[in-house]
Amino acid sequence: MTPLYWQKNAQDHLARAGSLHTAHGVVQTPTFMPVGTVGTVKAMTMESVRATGAQIVLGNTYHLMLRPGAERVKRLGGLHHFMDWPGPILTDSGGFQVMSLGPLRKLDQDGVTFRSHIDGSEHRLTPERSTDIQNALDATITMCFDECPALPAPPEALAASMRLSMAWAARCREQFVPRAGYGQFGIIQGGTERLLREESTKSLIHIGFEGYAIGGLAVGEGQALMFSTLDFTVPLIPEGSARYLMGVGTPEDILGAIERGIDMFDCVMPTRAGRTGRAYTTRGKLNMRNAIHKDDPRPIAPDCTCPACTKFSRAYLHHLFRSGEILGPMLLTWHNLTYYQSLVQSIRQAIMVQNLKNHATNLRDNWQKGDW
Ligand code: GUN
Ligand code: ZN
Repeated sequence: MTPLYWQKNAQDHLARAGSLHTAHGVVQTPTFMPVGTVGTVKAMTMESVRATGAQIVLGNTYHLMLRPGAERVKRLGGLHHFMDWPGPILTDSGGFQVMSLGPLRKLDQDGVTFRSHIDGSEHRLTPERSTDIQNALDATITMCFDECPALPAPPEALAASMRLSMAWAARCREQFVPRAGYGQFGIIQGGTERLLREESTKSLIHIGFEGYAIGGLAVGEGQALMFSTLDFTVPLIPEGSARYLMGVGTPEDILGAIERGIDMFDCVMPTRAGRTGRAYTTRGKLNMRNAIHKDDPRPIAPDCTCPACTKFSRAYLHHLFRSGEILGPMLLTWHNLTYYQSLVQSIRQAIMVQNLKNHATNLRDNWQKGDW
């Protein structure tokens, strides 16, 4: 029984290109995982998500346990079949989502009791329950149930929270049912504190996981502190394991994190921005609601191969968003996901030929230049 594994294909300074071999196919890294919180990447069919170049998507334990329920998904053939995504699925554990409920939750050493944001009903998540739910969903990659404190936070609070997450990680590993091509990732916590990140990483390596995630970042600390935390945390993670930076980020964040040795990302940014009229391009951001686009016959991005750019004008996208038409979010989500996939793909290719430094300079210069 071989669990999922990551293999290095090339290295350029700290950046790596690799392949993640799973029961549901191979993922080329660095990779960006579109967020499919409730079993749908919002405004997209999974066929169109695949067409953007995505190789793995993310789902959420918290949302799916509340609705439609993990046991129902299991009875209906598992999440891959239910949502029509035969490829790999990584599920977040619910830890992060439950924490953002604020006063609706109550934390103890054993787990978290919380009220549903949907109907106020009471639920409980523990390390064991979160792991069971992810197993019932048939997640290719199961995440540990953790606590993610908001930053800034006092070091004593960060230490206590991290140690709780490490105790939970051991319980998650106990509960995990190994299967060929499946795996479980531990989540490193400890805020921006070097000693805490070291302790956390050591604890997780001692337990042993198929991959390691860095959690607790992009929660208010800013890019400089996030990068300096990566600088001392990433080298602690075993060289032969996939490294996943959770909830990140902007194109600039992703480039900087890949340069520091990260292999996997997820973020709502391209999908959420697409639904509100914001487009990411090689020349920076555009807001399609802005009146400057209303007579513009040009595509959003002349260098993009997505349907929004090959079939329609900026003027048309502007019209759709101003009219509140559902096609606007659909087309712009498709565009933004295409941009994110082409970004990580181009970075991967640069790593393969040892040209990342030059490629990164070009990417940053072009973001700076602004619109065509
Ligand atoms: N998503 C973004 N950050 C985190 C984190 O620290 N933990 C979990 N479980 N999910 C996240
Ligand atoms: Zn496009």
